[in-house]
Amino acid sequence: MKVLITGGAGFIGSRLALRLAEEGHAVSVLDNFLPQVHGDRPEASPLYERLDSATRLIRGDVTDRAALAAALAGQEAVVHLAAETGTGQSMYEIERYSRVNIGGTSLLLDLLANSDHAVRRVVVASSRSIYGEGRYRAPTGEYVYPPHRSEADMAAGDFAVKHPGIEGELECVATDEDSKLHPSSVYGITKQVQEQLVMTVCPSLGIEGVALRYQNVFGPGQSLANPYTGILSIFANLIMQGRAINIFEDGRESRDFVYVDDVVEATVLALTRPAAANRVFNVGTGAPVSVLEVAETLCRLFDADVPIEISGNFRAGDIRHNHADLTRIRETLGFEPAWSFERGIAELVAWARASGPQASAYDASLAEMREKGLLK
Ligand SMILES: NC(=O)c1ccc[n+]([C@@H]2O[C@H](COP(=O)([O-])OP(=O)(O)OC[C@H]3O[C@@H](n4cnc5c(N)ncnc54)[C@H](O)[C@@H]3O)[C@@H](O)[C@H]2O)c1
Repeated sequence: MKVLITGGAGFIGSRLALRLAEEGHAVSVLDNFLPQVHGDRPEASPLYERLDSATRLIRGDVTDRAALAAALAGQEAVVHLAAETGTGQSMYEIERYSRVNIGGTSLLLDLLANSDHAVRRVVVASSRSIYGEGRYRAPTGEYVYPPHRSEADMAAGDFAVKHPGIEGELECVATDEDSKLHPSSVYGITKQVQEQLVMTVCPSLGIEGVALRYQNVFGPGQSLANPYTGILSIFANLIMQGRAINIFEDGRESRDFVYVDDVVEATVLALTRPAAANRVFNVGTGAPVSVLEVAETLCRLFDADVPIEISGNFRAGDIRHNHADLTRIRETLGFEPAWSFERGIAELVAWARASGPQASAYDASLAEMREKGLLK
């Protein structure tokens, strides 16, 4: 198959590109090598060389009509991963996030609608962030989709999720694909729009659309320099620098951390299986892990003694918990996550050690968030 991967030099995209190329597909990568992710000299990295020899590597922007049109020529499928990815950053870089994420997807579909092409399938990277707080069970047994938490509660150290009119504790349950979509960040909004654009426009053009709602992806290759996204790589970089880890809220907030090779496997299934056509799928492990557990596991595996500070800080746009219901992707595509959290994190640590600590604008990113009133 001739496949274009936008954002194919990134964390997920590069792993996917190399796997597809290895399987004999003709892979093209369109990526602008965003400095926030790749630093200032991406062509000096070993990954650049590997991608350059295994794929047709095009340095260009998904918001550039001529570059995207040239990259699309002759392709049979597109995996659209290029995006701005920081939840917190999206709350003040609003125009940029909308332009790249929504604008890039609009341009892709506009080209498919208005030019000759051979594309039969488009797979778009959506995100669990489109669910906002996700699905909870009330003490009465009914399912509810709680609104964003109030700043006043969080400032008082109360991080629990609440739902109007419901007394007692809410239990977080796995979020299925039919759950309410109500993102709590600009990033989440852009992901929802990307997904809906693809799932609405593609069928009208006779193209199969597939949207993958990735949970929190981690593993080797995740940018250690990008301070805006990926808590495992951010914590790993801090540990390697001998610095304290600042844990937001009370550390009991949780996510569904899915290993990158499982995400690549799900994406390959989405790209190749007929049954995936015009469907939306969760991609995760189905199991929540707390942020405190992440920090403790990393410290243990690095054999590091850095302080873990539970600061009570909180960020606008962050949710409390979320984990995926995998029933649909299991039943439809036969997807089963193969990597446990423990085994995946050991791979991440081994890779991070080999890479060494990286210069990162971590402190500047926190200062920026504080200055904008988005980190309290
Ligand atoms: N990593 C996760 O936990 C996660 C979770 C949910 C969804 N996603 C989505 O998966 C996709 C891939 O994420 P990732 O973790 O690999 O991120 P990443 O930042 O490593 O990769 C994104 C790639 O897109 C490129 N890019 C950014 N803007 C571009 C533009 N205007 N034109 C061309 N290329 C551009 C970047 O240079 C980068 O190589 C994204 O769409 C992201 O929103 C990721």
